[in-house]
Amino acid sequence: MHMNIRSSLTAIFAMDQSGGIGKNNVLPWHYPKDLSHFKNVTNKGTIIMGYNTLVSLPNQKPLKNRSNIVLTRNKDKCIVNYPEYNDKPYVLVFKSEEEIMAVLKEQEVTNWFVIGGKQVFDLLLPYCKHMWLTIIKKDYDCDVKMDKKYLDERFILDHVEYEDDEIQIGYYKLK
Ligand SMILES: NC(=O)c1ccc[n+]([C@@H]2O[C@H](COP(=O)([O-])OP(=O)(O)OC[C@H]3O[C@@H](n4cnc5c(N)ncnc54)[C@H](OP(=O)(O)O)[C@@H]3O)[C@@H](O)[C@H]2O)c1
Repeated sequence: MHMNIRSSLTAIFAMDQSGGIGKNNVLPWHYPKDLSHFKNVTNKGTIIMGYNTLVSLPNQKPLKNRSNIVLTRNKDKCIVNYPEYNDKPYVLVFKSEEEIMAVLKEQEVTNWFVIGGKQVFDLLLPYCKHMWLTIIKKDYDCDVKMDKKYLDERFILDHVEYEDDEIQIGYYKLK
């Protein structure tokens, strides 16, 4: 039986009060509590990201202890940059929406997380049933912004996992 992919993808990201998520292809902030939350939630799972997000990671490397799926229309990019992963099923590269949809429909996907960036959220948020959202209680100068109206229309807060003066980490479900 084919799995309904809407039942298994979870988005996870942090945004500021205005929906900003990045600047010059990096995170404009550093909140250790948010990073440890991301690590705990995605540990041993599968993370799906766009190529820009891959190169925004520390040392431009895929994350350890997780399966990394990268979306790029140019597979050679990853082969050139990551020869050490060539013969290992560590980084899977998808070149189109059709390719990733085929896998998501055919495989039983549990613990798969969409981690960004904006282009990949535009593509895959419609298939995410849950969302871990960290709201940064400040405004940063960002050049990549989420559509807050879309998020509000689609998701509702289920519970607050952690909160302090600077951030709120919440778990959201479909409305
Ligand atoms: N705050 C957060 O939690 C968070 C999380 C993640 C990222 N970010 C930030 O977001 C920014 C990056 O976001 P972004 O929107 O620029 O980039 P992105 O979504 O990470 O990656 C975009 C790239 O993905 C590939 N791609 C997109 N759609 C595709 C499709 N349908 N088929 C195949 N490949 C596809 C293309 O790669 P090619 O050009 O190689 O073909 C495209 O250039 C950075 O500033 C980063 O720091 C923030």
